[in-house]
Amino acid sequence: MSMLLEAQDMMYTYPSTDRPALNGLSLAIPTGSKTAICGHNGCGKSTFFLHSNGILRPQSGRLQWKGTDYSYRKADIHALRQRIGLVFQDPEQQLILNTPYEDISYGLRNAGFPEEEIRRRVEQMLVRMGLTHLADQPIHHLSLGQKKRITLAGILVLEPELILLDEPTAYLDPKSEVQLLEQLDRIHAQGVTIAMSTHDMNLVYTWADWVIVMDQGRVVLSGTPLDVFQQTDTLMTLGLRIPMLYDLWLALPESWRNGAAPPRDMEAFKAWVSTHHILQ
Ligand SMILES: Nc1ncnc2c1ncn2[C@@H]1O[C@H](COP(=O)(O)OP(=O)(O)OP(=O)(O)O)[C@@H](O)[C@H]1O
Ligand SMILES: [Mg+2]
Repeated sequence: MSMLLEAQDMMYTYPSTDRPALNGLSLAIPTGSKTAICGHNGCGKSTFFLHSNGILRPQSGRLQWKGTDYSYRKADIHALRQRIGLVFQDPEQQLILNTPYEDISYGLRNAGFPEEEIRRRVEQMLVRMGLTHLADQPIHHLSLGQKKRITLAGILVLEPELILLDEPTAYLDPKSEVQLLEQLDRIHAQGVTIAMSTHDMNLVYTWADWVIVMDQGRVVLSGTPLDVFQQTDTLMTLGLRIPMLYDLWLALPESWRNGAAPPRDMEAFKAWVSTHHILQ
């Protein structure tokens, strides 16, 4: 398996704090993967993302893109950001222009695309993200979920080699979440690697093909979803939820897994779910 982005023993402490936010972080994002990064509030997910596109620089340890150490020369960082797109956790930190249309075009214009191509791509992305009706609204009039969708569109439209999404589904309603996941699938099918941080373990289970679990600035588990979710004790100790579908699958009677039908009566099924503590 080749690795697109690799961190080795990274340390980072924010100025004026005394606890490291990254404390010997070593992880790898496989090329072509759909990687989910999970872990508690404050375990260092956003700090890792800010390192990945060169906004922060590790105080020790190393970070590699396709096997080569990061260079922090201005031109190299600029080039790296064309290849690695980061969608911030907080959309307010990312939106800079007045309207969604202007903001989504900004990265393409910066990268020197011709006006015709910019218009084509932005209009297509507005449709795909269900944002057409908001295209010319003042951004400061929009809701947090709408702002988040604009920042997502602004990165997806650039089609970088690696897309990093910091809690992309936070603030999104179910319809917007489906739209986002459809766009991610479309882009992933074109060969783009995607890594997202999320607290939604059900999304991790259904979406990811590679899972990284962090705690206190380092990685505690990483591997395929099955490898990771089999470590139920570690996940429980960390206070993380076991995905509902995985829990349900484990709890199914052997006969159901082998094709026997579950109860047809929904109340009986609900009673069965509650006696097996699946939703707790
Ligand atoms: N700008 C900052 N200045 C000082 N400390 C910070 C700053 N940003 C984050 N930290 C600290 O660094 C640690 C890691 O924070 P980080 O935001 O990376 O966690 P996270 O895993 O993204 O959390 P969440 O799930 O809440 O988004 C935390 O202890 C946090 O308090
Ligand atoms: Mg965060």
